[in-house]
Formats: sequence, C-alpha cells, structure tokens
Amino acid sequence: MSRNGKTAAAADQAVDRGVLPVDLERLVGLEFIRATEAAALSAYKWMGKGDKESADYAASDAIRGLFDTVNISGLVTIGEGIKDNAPGIFKGEKLGTWADGSIKMAIALDPIDGTTIVSKGLAGAISVIAAAACEKPEDDPRELLADIPSFYMNKISFGPRVKMGPGRIRLDNAVQDNLEIIALKLGKRVQDLTVVILDRSRHERLVHDVRRAGAAIRLISDGDIAGAIAPCLPGSGVDVYMGTGGSPEAVLAAAGIKCLGGEILAQMWPRDDDEREQLKSSGVAEADLAKVYTADDLARGKRVLFAATGISDSTMLKGIRYEDTSAMTYSIFMRAKHQTIRYIKTVHNLDLKTVRLRSDAQDHAL
Ligand code: FBP
Repeated sequence: MSRNGKTAAAADQAVDRGVLPVDLERLVGLEFIRATEAAALSAYKWMGKGDKESADYAASDAIRGLFDTVNISGLVTIGEGIKDNAPGIFKGEKLGTWADGSIKMAIALDPIDGTTIVSKGLAGAISVIAAAACEKPEDDPRELLADIPSFYMNKISFGPRVKMGPGRIRLDNAVQDNLEIIALKLGKRVQDLTVVILDRSRHERLVHDVRRAGAAIRLISDGDIAGAIAPCLPGSGVDVYMGTGGSPEAVLAAAGIKCLGGEILAQMWPRDDDEREQLKSSGVAEADLAKVYTADDLARGKRVLFAATGISDSTMLKGIRYEDTSAMTYSIFMRAKHQTIRYIKTVHNLDLKTVRLRSDAQDHAL
C-alpha cells in the first residue's frame, strides 16, 4: 500500500461511519513538503558545481520519485518555463498514483527556482510546488492555475495590509505613487521601504525611479518566487516586489501570496515585437495582453496549497545546513483555505535518510 494509502483507507472508514467528510488535500499536504525537501536535498549536492542541468535533473527525479508513492491524480499544468532549456518536469506530465478516488489536482512546480544560483553556489534558491485541488471529480484541473503563454510578466506584489482599504496599487501607476500608497498603509515613510527587484539591465529605469523616490532596493540575482512572496511574510524586511520575471514564477508566487492574503498584479510582458506577434498569432488577444491578473486570476479557487523548501538562504527560507550526520531543511507549507503558515524545520538523519528517484525506482542515500 502506498505511503498515504493507509490514511486514505482510514479516511474512507471514517466517512462510512458517518464521521465528517475528510479534507483530502490536508491529508496530502505533508507529501508536498516531502517532495520539496527531497528536491532541495538532491539539488544541494550540485551547489557550486557549475552544472545547473544536473541540479535540475536531480531535483526533478526526486519529485517524480516521491509522488510515485502518493495517492493523488496530479496533472502538471505549469512546469519548466519556456525560458528553460532544462531537463525538468513539464506541462502535461502526471504525478502521483492516479489511484481511483484520489484527489484530482493541478500542479505547478519549479524543482529549483534559481538554477544559476545553485550552479554558482549562491544564496536565494528554493524548491517550490503549488497545487489547486478540483472541487468535483469531473472538474478540469487545467482551469485552476493560469497557463500564461508569454515568457515574462511585469509584476508587483505586496502584503495583506497594503491590499486592504482605500488607495489602490496599480501596475501602471508611477513608481513614486505606488510607494507612497504602500508607505501610508504600512505607517512608514517612503525612505523606510524596501523593494525587491531582480538585478537585470531591463530594470535600470525602475531602479532609478525607486531610488529617486528614496526607498531602499534589495537586488536579487535570481529567484523571484521567493522575492515576490517576501512582502507578504511577516518579518521578511521586504515591503514590495517590483519588476519583470518569468511567467510560471508569477503563477507559483500567486499561489503562495494567495495563501498569505497578499496580492500580486501581473501583466504579460512580451520582450519584443516578435514575441508580441507570435503571441497574437497563437490566439492571444490584445485584451489578454492588456489584462492585469490578480492572485485569484492566476491561482483560482480556495483549495490552493503551496510548499517550498530552501536550498540556499533566501528572503523567504533558510537554506540547507549540514551538521555531523544530519541535514536540516527549512520549509513552508500553506493553504489558501485557512491561511495557516507552517514553518517546518526537518532534521534528516543521514545514516538512514533516503530519497526515492523515479529514474530507477530505488531509494538512494544522500
Ligand atoms: P531559473 O531557476 O529557471 O533559472 O529561473 C530563475 C529566475 O531568476 C526566476 O526566478 C525569474 O522569474 C527568472 O529567472 C527571470 O528570468 P531572466 O533570468 O531571464 O531575467
């Protein structure tokens, strides 16, 4: 029987006894953390080795291997982005046992957000999986997590206090105006705000505008899922995320942000006329290009879950630590339904710990 098969059987018996219906996505929650932990631990072996493809392959193999023992019917609706020429997990792939009666879910994942970071041995990499569960067995999971066709989106994300009340943040506002609204809502001065921005030449103007307004910038070399979620996390020291980054990363961040009651506004951002034309010829209307997506548009419904494990230190999570014969992982697990934030520190005994890989269906020591 698979790892959570017994739990599912116990759940069935409870339902037969007339006990309250079981919240299946709660039952599988820990398996998502096991998956991101296994991916992070597998990726960590490639830290600083200058080989991002092998790191990505190792993390993906571990995620597939883990889900092979988990009773879900998971359809990957967002896998590696079109920017990645990587050996990762792609859209359309099935994860889980697909056993009869198992919960049907859309899955979005990034086995490593920050493959370059891992290859260079730097800070800021995480492993992430988000999912949205179907309400009814006949529902189509592809409708739950938005499949954005552009390479990049222009994004701004902020926490629950900024989302609430009058004074609206808009993507097309002047940077200074958005910063003033955020400062007002947080009871700070603009010069006390910290903005996370990907360190890219395309952000020269944005960086200039933020600095002119007087706010501080935390430039990140990669990994804008953690960067975009940070403003929603109490104590992150970050007030807002701004800039253009990967579209799949926007959807993954939206799932996390939704679980935290924050907001992300994101719009497709074609890199040039060629991409714009290509998008249009594939059926993307002008109205779609103009649309500003919210967290609810990108990750739909209440049954959204989000799991991540730190590979190296980021604005969101500590990275992996090795000590004698153990490895420590730091993870976060959240659900949109109750917005509970669980920080999970796991101590893995390296004498006993194994990670199951899909490639040979075997358990491997770390
Ligand atoms: P990878 O891990 O796939 O390399 O993505 C890292 C990342 O920094 C994302 O977090 C971000 O959304 C995107 O790349 C930005 O793209 P680009 O490097 O092309 O500016």
